[in-house]
Amino acid sequence: MNPRGRNIIRVCQGTACHVRGGKIILQELEKQLAIKAGHTTDDLAFTLETVACIGACGLAPVMQINNDTHGRLTPEKLSKILERYK
Ligand code: FES
Repeated sequence: MNPRGRNIIRVCQGTACHVRGGKIILQELEKQLAIKAGHTTDDLAFTLETVACIGACGLAPVMQINNDTHGRLTPEKLSKILERYK
């Protein structure tokens, strides 16, 4: 059983996001959360998932946390964003 976290992160790996660095965003999230995609942090704060396209390609690279969409991501922006959900 893989428990679900309080916050569900969905990182877009669709084409538009991929060409604009979506893979790097995913890798950085995996590093900061110390989990791989498909897993949940030990404190159950976050579950990290990947999705194909969430229809916000104009904001690529994009991730959703719960119902919030975060776009034009850079690796530097991620820790501040995650902080808001802890
Ligand atoms: S490819 Fe990422 S939102 Fe469309």
